[in-house]
Amino acid sequence: MRTDDAPLIRLEDYRPSDWLIDTVDLDISLHPTQTRVRSLLALRPNPAGQTDAPLVLDGDELALKALSLDGEPLDASAYAAGPQGLTLHAPPRRGFTLTIETEIDPAANTKLMGLYRSSRVYCTQCEADGFRRITYFLDRPDVMSVYTVRLEAAKAEAPVLLSNGNLVATGEVPGSDRHFALWHDPHPKPAYLFALVGGALDHVRQDYVTADGRKVELAVYVEPGKAGRAGWALDSLVRCMRWDEKVFGRNYDLDVFNVVAVSDFNMGAMENKGLNIFNDKYVLADPQTATDGDYASIEAIIAHEYFHNWTGNRITCRDWFQLCLKEGLTVFRDQEFSSDERSRPVKRIADVRTLRSTQFSEDAGPLAHPVRPRAYKEINNFYTPTVYEKGAEVIRMLKVLIGDDAFKRGMDLYFERCDGTAATIEEFLACFAESSGRDLSHFARWYEQAGTPAIVASGRYDAAEQRYTLDLAQSTPPTPGQAEKEPMVLPVRLGLVGTEGDLPLRTQSNAYAGDGLVVLDGPSLSIAFEGVTEPPIPSLLRGFSAPARLELDLSEADLLRQFTRDSDSFNRWQALQSIATRALVAAGRPGADSGALGATAAELGRALDGFLAADALADPAFAAQVLRLPAPADIAREIGKAVDPDAIFAAHRALSTAIGSALLPRLSGLRQALETKGPYRADSASAGRRALRNELLGLAALAAPADGAALCEQQFETGDNLTDRLAALAAMTLIPGERRERLIARFAEAYAGEPLVLDKWLMAQALIAEPATLERVRELMRHPAFSLGNPNRVRALIGGFAANLTQFNRADGAGYGFVADIVIALDRTNPQVASRLLGSFKSWRMLEPGRRRQAQEALGLVARTPNLSRDVSDIAERALA
Ligand code: PHE
Ligand code: ZN
Repeated sequence: MRTDDAPLIRLEDYRPSDWLIDTVDLDISLHPTQTRVRSLLALRPNPAGQTDAPLVLDGDELALKALSLDGEPLDASAYAAGPQGLTLHAPPRRGFTLTIETEIDPAANTKLMGLYRSSRVYCTQCEADGFRRITYFLDRPDVMSVYTVRLEAAKAEAPVLLSNGNLVATGEVPGSDRHFALWHDPHPKPAYLFALVGGALDHVRQDYVTADGRKVELAVYVEPGKAGRAGWALDSLVRCMRWDEKVFGRNYDLDVFNVVAVSDFNMGAMENKGLNIFNDKYVLADPQTATDGDYASIEAIIAHEYFHNWTGNRITCRDWFQLCLKEGLTVFRDQEFSSDERSRPVKRIADVRTLRSTQFSEDAGPLAHPVRPRAYKEINNFYTPTVYEKGAEVIRMLKVLIGDDAFKRGMDLYFERCDGTAATIEEFLACFAESSGRDLSHFARWYEQAGTPAIVASGRYDAAEQRYTLDLAQSTPPTPGQAEKEPMVLPVRLGLVGTEGDLPLRTQSNAYAGDGLVVLDGPSLSIAFEGVTEPPIPSLLRGFSAPARLELDLSEADLLRQFTRDSDSFNRWQALQSIATRALVAAGRPGADSGALGATAAELGRALDGFLAADALADPAFAAQVLRLPAPADIAREIGKAVDPDAIFAAHRALSTAIGSALLPRLSGLRQALETKGPYRADSASAGRRALRNELLGLAALAAPADGAALCEQQFETGDNLTDRLAALAAMTLIPGERRERLIARFAEAYAGEPLVLDKWLMAQALIAEPATLERVRELMRHPAFSLGNPNRVRALIGGFAANLTQFNRADGAGYGFVADIVIALDRTNPQVASRLLGSFKSWRMLEPGRRRQAQEALGLVARTPNLSRDVSDIAERALA
């Protein structure tokens, strides 16, 4: 179906279902190409629905084999069945049962939605609307049912059979080579949380006792031979379960909790009740095949999916417009968990980097949408950084605004009041309005209004009056469908930094700001701080207290002072980022002269050198963040129009190289001091040391390529872990020449047979900022390590290339053409992966006219392709609108 024909689904059109399904009994007989599904539904009219309505069950590419009502086969005139649905024209106006038989072909399911096979393992993915690819159903999250599932399969092919809930029985099927398992999930759930897994899998397991005394069997299932790589995921699971008990008072509620890793998966992972299914990239880890970053993301995603058990499963979404109800909140929860497990300031910095690079860029382009969208054509295109990451920021702001205490009571109230329901954002916010006694109706605008607010700040110091006056003003740029914007509620955490640190905050009324929090909720605000004994530096948006852009014109000298004296680590980091950003924006603008960059480079070099001398070993993870400049794409977004990626990249390269040169004398001593002794350990302190060491390696590669190349070779050959060896490869990619090619080849040799490691190898090459990269990527598509059929491979190589600012945005348009062609080809097999890839075009409108024209042409080529999926045509049309 073309998007133009696809209906626009609107939030305001929500109506409760006319029918409810109390119980579902599934009997699924697994077969690679002919899987039989028998579904027994106990239906009844919904008191809140229409009584004279027909019964319309959703389907997607289904074939009906048999149908009966209350056990009696139905006459063909009583219903209409097709691939996309099953309608009972005149269902009884009382409770009744339907028995539906369908047959599906898991092996042919390349969309990876519904039931499919991944490397000989049967698995399912039902969010958002994949269950209708298994059987006809009321596939909407507000229809919640109790599931009993019988799975049957050939013993040899699928010795392991898993579904949601608790295992009730297992046994042989007499007279055959088959066996079965019976699962029962007592918690009513929407169909999108259904899952099954069947296959030959190894596992690791551990017993767990919840705080309220329930014995739970935890297990992580992986492909045969990979059990040695499942330990970190299991360990993370135990830690996040304890944490949720302690911090949110949430206990687990079944006797088993299973995690399964599969190698073909469209997303990161899925929170199916009691049976989380993961992209294996977010489960498998050992020092040789996973980086520190992988260990951290596994920990975070295991936690994320586990936390969904309460925020998502026990309390689910009334409709898909409420997606942020579970996703924003659950991202917030996993961020908090990681902050407690690791370094809170460093985690915040990393999260803000992600927010800016993914969400701010989405908000600034044609795909911008509110945290709670009002309309969609394809819901799968709304699993976005805005719903997830900005959604988490909204929760974070809420906590800052009402305080920790009221936030906690609000969460408790939400868990108590909404447990077992399919809820809305309104119901969620009502809990916090109640717990805090505040009117949150203005705050709720965060869910409705798209775009990144800008805060313009300026200050005046009056020495005679010892008064510092701070003026704040806000505005939000127009976004698609929202030309006019209202002021947002912006919690601005702040401090005044003096020579000896923070100055006391006193205002005339002391009505606000005494606690370092100012709420900017109108167009502008002016605050006078009294008794200010010296000209202060305003430290605004401490901890990044609101997802906004801050425009504050501090001198380079003030920013450098802020970097050394601010008590807020986030703003210390931000101060140097601001210096770099400003210089790069100036040098990267069309027609800019890069002369000014030299002075800034010298200043930054001196500051960083002093910082490394004094502080580097105290907190290496923080130091690594300080050394890392804003990415070229961040600078492009700051410039915002007529962007020339080559100019930005050149400026970025020049600044990095100059900083590297300034640090060169200190480099080898510091790298030595940072070396971790003994065998690899994944803890955040060791990871921090490696991060800083490897940040320095990258700078060395730029500032002294010959020595840098030798360092990379040496680190690759002697490194005992993937973090260091991959960092060596990445640094080497900055140095063109024979040695680079040799290391690339060595790497492939060393990790042959390790697809997840080779993904990183593919990506490192796709990111090389040189014109030959496009040809290299084309060649790599023919490498045995690549496959268009596996989402991880596509994201690594093609997604990597699309993230390569200068090469995707080649002036000749060849980068756009290449990606567009792949989107079109991929759309035939996996529309979701194709449409995500097409999302790489989201910033095309800010480019200089030549590139903009080329990008538009490539998008047009996609949009005009016949028989596009709804996923891809929706993105193409919105991008071009
Ligand atoms: N709900 C999953 C998560 O965020 C993401 C997901 C969405 C996975 C849709 C698959 C399909 O945890
Ligand atoms: Zn989630």
